Amino acid sequence: TIAVLDFGGQYNQLITRRIRDLGVYSELYPHTVSAEELGALNLKGIIFSGGPGSAYVEGAPNCDPALYDLDVPILGICYGMQLLTHHFGGNVEAADYREYGKAVLEVSESAKLFQGLASEQSVWMSHGDLITAPPRGFQTDATNPMTPVAAMSNEEMNLYGVQFHPEVRHTVHGDDMLHNFVYDICRCRGEWTMENFIDHEVEKIRENVGNRHVLCALSGGVDSSVTAMLVHRAIGDQLTCIFIDHGLLRKDEGTRVMEMFEGEFDINVMKIDASERFLAKLQGVSDPEQKRKIIGNQFIYMFEEESSKLENMDFLAQGTLYTDVIESGTATAETIKSHHNVGGLPEDMKLDLIEPLNTLFKDEVRALGTELGLPESFVWRQPFPGPGLGIRVLGEITPEKLEIVRESDAVLHDVLEKAGLDKDIWQFFTALPDMRSVGVMGDTRTYDYTVGVRAVTSTDGMTSDWARIPHEVLEAISTRIVNEVPQVNRVVYDITSKPPSTIEWE
Ligand code: XMP
Repeated sequence: TIAVLDFGGQYNQLITRRIRDLGVYSELYPHTVSAEELGALNLKGIIFSGGPGSAYVEGAPNCDPALYDLDVPILGICYGMQLLTHHFGGNVEAADYREYGKAVLEVSESAKLFQGLASEQSVWMSHGDLITAPPRGFQTDATNPMTPVAAMSNEEMNLYGVQFHPEVRHTVHGDDMLHNFVYDICRCRGEWTMENFIDHEVEKIRENVGNRHVLCALSGGVDSSVTAMLVHRAIGDQLTCIFIDHGLLRKDEGTRVMEMFEGEFDINVMKIDASERFLAKLQGVSDPEQKRKIIGNQFIYMFEEESSKLENMDFLAQGTLYTDVIESGTATAETIKSHHNVGGLPEDMKLDLIEPLNTLFKDEVRALGTELGLPESFVWRQPFPGPGLGIRVLGEITPEKLEIVRESDAVLHDVLEKAGLDKDIWQFFTALPDMRSVGVMGDTRTYDYTVGVRAVTSTDGMTSDWARIPHEVLEAISTRIVNEVPQVNRVVYDITSKPPSTIEWE
């Protein structure tokens, strides 16, 4: 393991990612982690991340000083380097100018971190503090007029520091520098591959479960599907999945999930058709937050009810991701919408948890899914909210309105797929506003529904922009929806970004 200590910088997760991409396992730890805890790992090196603090200020975030006695190499990045400097008696001070953006450095080719690289390096800076003198015994490995000590090292003590950010793409040879750190300096062997991960996890699950039984809630989403596949690989028929169809799924979705898991992969899946119950609970409810709560609670309730009918269940497998773990530890953000994950199950269930994905990032989960035999098209599916079409039928939900969203959404998918645009757009769907308007069809006045089309580009769903779909494709979308979906006489395209809007309409 390469442990990355989190000092609050915005690129910290990225450091872990880059190192894993180099074939070395890496995890993010709070900066307060003890040397004892890290020492218990198969630790090969430590990275101190960047962060907003100032190392010379009283009470600035610091690490357990015993880390320096662990006898593994340490690399400080930005704040991390300033911390090293401050700790070992060098000088850190506020810079006259905040340096942000691209910088060109003169680097020493003999420095271990820069081995094999040219003496001129284009890097990415983002800092307000500056090192004016490295600690005694350290040599300066990179410099430019703005940043006299842009990299430093003390090879004897195995300490390294860089003022810039090797983890961001703008640092052109950042990966090579991290490669030098993990392979040459930390002497890692590069055994972190998906295959090894699977072997390792399968072994762990088998050992943990023995001949007992595991329950898993399958939602049809990527995370729970990959979890089920992995656990199934480990223990086969000792796994039982429950798939609750809340009646708010997209067209043919329920059938497809069942065909794939039960048919193709031979996994035990109990399908519970609960659409009527969900619809009954949602009747007359039009407030979005209330709808979300009802769907979430009902889901948990049904899961408890169904699982209590099964005997001898000892474990619950959940598709919790690494980002969920990190975020739930730190997030204090205001609730804009109460996001509900179909995986979020009751705490008081008397089952032990198995969360085999909780060290993985989303795209690692996708790679894992592919490795486990899930089709690419499934693994790269768009996000689909837990409350499903329940938040795409605005206002009160009725079977009739659900049918309109389902059909119009299927048409939209078909058009975009045929136009070859489906892979370029991050997420697209239709929503049904709670309104009707007047139209004319075949000389007759109509008074029908309006379908809203949403298509966005994004990288993580936190912010997004509306997709610039060519006019002729928009035309095809509109014509086909109006022609093929009964009770629709108008189609509108949502041209708002997030913020100020959100991706879903509720
Ligand atoms: P918003 O509408 O908040 O959506 O801009 C951002 C992304 O999150 C998805 N989304 C959800 N996912 N449970 C989920 O699992 C939810 O309750 C939920 N609400 C929104 C949305 O589809 C988009 O990708």
